Amino acid sequence: MYHARPMKVLGLETSCDETGVALYDTDRGLVADALHSQVDLHAVYGGVVPEIASRDHLRRLLPLIRDVLTRAEVEAPDAIAYTAGPGLVGALMVGSGMANGLAMAWGCPVVAVHHMEGHLLAPMLEDEPPDFPFLALLVSGGHTMLIAVRALGDYELLGTTRDDAVGEAFDKTAKLLDLGYPGGPALAKLAESGDETAVALPRPMLDKAGFDFSFSGLKTAVMLEVRRARERGDFDASRADIAASFQRAAVDTMIAKTIRAAESTGLERLVVAGGVGANRLLREEMARQYPGRVFYPRLSFCTDNGAMIAVAGALRLADAGEATRILTRVRWPLDTLSAPGSAL
Ligand code: KG4
Ligand code: ZN
Repeated sequence: MYHARPMKVLGLETSCDETGVALYDTDRGLVADALHSQVDLHAVYGGVVPEIASRDHLRRLLPLIRDVLTRAEVEAPDAIAYTAGPGLVGALMVGSGMANGLAMAWGCPVVAVHHMEGHLLAPMLEDEPPDFPFLALLVSGGHTMLIAVRALGDYELLGTTRDDAVGEAFDKTAKLLDLGYPGGPALAKLAESGDETAVALPRPMLDKAGFDFSFSGLKTAVMLEVRRARERGDFDASRADIAASFQRAAVDTMIAKTIRAAESTGLERLVVAGGVGANRLLREEMARQYPGRVFYPRLSFCTDNGAMIAVAGALRLADAGEATRILTRVRWPLDTLSAPGSAL
């Protein structure tokens, strides 16, 4: 990364159910990071409760910032990057208020970061980051997107989901299999002991042109299979097979659409990011089948974290000295972003 002057950027992530804080140094890379997951707080409700999320961010954020700055041996950063959206409005406001307040106290610039741009740029934290341009498969609990990334801020949305996000499909399927919340990692674990050919499930949208996804049909097929297994009285014995078959169908669909997008755009490098990017089968199979080089963030930076927000903020600041003071954007399409320096 080229920088006129080295900069230490504090990143804050509070869009959903993880409080993430990190310090990224444009010279030295990631210096320190900390994460507090609220999973246990929400698990009893089977999903994220927005009010509880906001309150817990408020409780955790300052101690985490203090911890990161102490470990980084930095008194005050040169800039603060925070997730301004998309996400839960109360949760976003905690990060936004903190970032803007601290920036005023420290007299430093503040950068509003798009959460999905953070996910997209997370591989920039690794030793061998991808060069622009690249294709990106962004798969999380709220988003499923295939994007042509031509440069920082130049994102063409090639395809998205028509209904559920793929992470949401993992979570809902996990719920059907009595796996609790959040289901993705638990489902992937259960799938390891199952037979992925046991249950015939649809590969949605593969017969249709274009790069859009749809996961509701797959979810319904799983629901019917669960019902049949319960009626047969062998639900417990079938759970792992259903999990493995679902995972394989979801992964096959993502890989087929991604390869199709690579062929159509001519983009060779691929970034896979977002929570579902932590899925082992997806990582292994994509690396095996994708014709170009595949870049991933490390596992812990696939799901929400402060480091991806810090590096995204640093890149935007380094490019054009961009400082932005917007508050929150609950809905914020990624392809409306522009290159650093132009108006948001
Ligand atoms: O990016 P993320 O932490 O939050 C959002 O921005 O949504 O993604 C969370 C999503 C959840 O749906 C979770 O079940 C899914 O990512 N996930 C996984 C795995 N780890 C997390 N899905 C499948 N396999 C995994 N190993
Ligand atoms: Zn996320």
